[in-house]
Amino acid sequence: MSKSRETCHDLSFLPLLAAACLICLACFAAFGAAFASEKKLDIGREATAEEIAGWDIDIRPDGHGLPVGRGTVKQGEPLYVERCAACHGEFGESAGRWPILSGGNGTLASHDPVKSVGSYWPYASTIIDYIRRAMPFGASQTLTNDELYAITAYVLFLNDIVTSEDFELSDKNFRTIKLPNEPNFFDDDREVAEKAFWRTDPCMSNCISGDAVVTGRAKVIDVTPDPGTGPKVE
Ligand code: HEC
Repeated sequence: MSKSRETCHDLSFLPLLAAACLICLACFAAFGAAFASEKKLDIGREATAEEIAGWDIDIRPDGHGLPVGRGTVKQGEPLYVERCAACHGEFGESAGRWPILSGGNGTLASHDPVKSVGSYWPYASTIIDYIRRAMPFGASQTLTNDELYAITAYVLFLNDIVTSEDFELSDKNFRTIKLPNEPNFFDDDREVAEKAFWRTDPCMSNCISGDAVVTGRAKVIDVTPDPGTGPKVE
């Protein structure tokens, strides 16, 4: 009896067990990584080329992914009125609280910037990609390719990006469309522009030389309005 209790309490094997476990884990990790690419999980089946094509519909700024089709501003107007205007307004000015699709040029630097697909978005490809993928809201991907080009041409027309009602937009001339705000988008340059800020050894204590100066106190600055003096919120 006492012998077996002793055996039970003998934990000297634990370090050995722990070491063995660690070695096993390391082995699993190494072999796991090596075999991960080959091993199948046996869940579901591979997507067919047709299924992938259904998802693979992105249109990129360089024109990659543009579907074959064409449509004029004039053809787009009635389609837009029928399929889009109930929410976005006949001229893209928005009906009620749905997003606007036009206007806002020259307002981006103001206190009240109006960001529309025309004033703010960098590439026309984003407009056609978005319409193709997501609109009309609730009935997405129901537009034919020709309808898509015609409606996109009309949205460009509403934004004065194309100016003739006879303008025909197609996969052939799409790349010639430039949006006014494109130059204001640029690659993330923070690694260079903010190099001094992204230090590898950030200062964590006593970071300013000299004494800290208290410039104000919340109580004195009085940032919290007295009850009843703030703006009325409905
Ligand atoms: C039932 C209302 C409705 C209809 C109809 C509709 N849209 Fe929209 N549209 C929306 C909503 C809601 C959003 C915003 C969706 C979001 O942000 O997720 C939107 C967003 C958009 C945007 C992006 C706007 C922005 O600045 O972010 C475009 C472009 C657009 N719609 C085009 C169209 C076109 C073209 C049609 C017609 C083919 C259409 N929509 C039909 C409701 C609608």
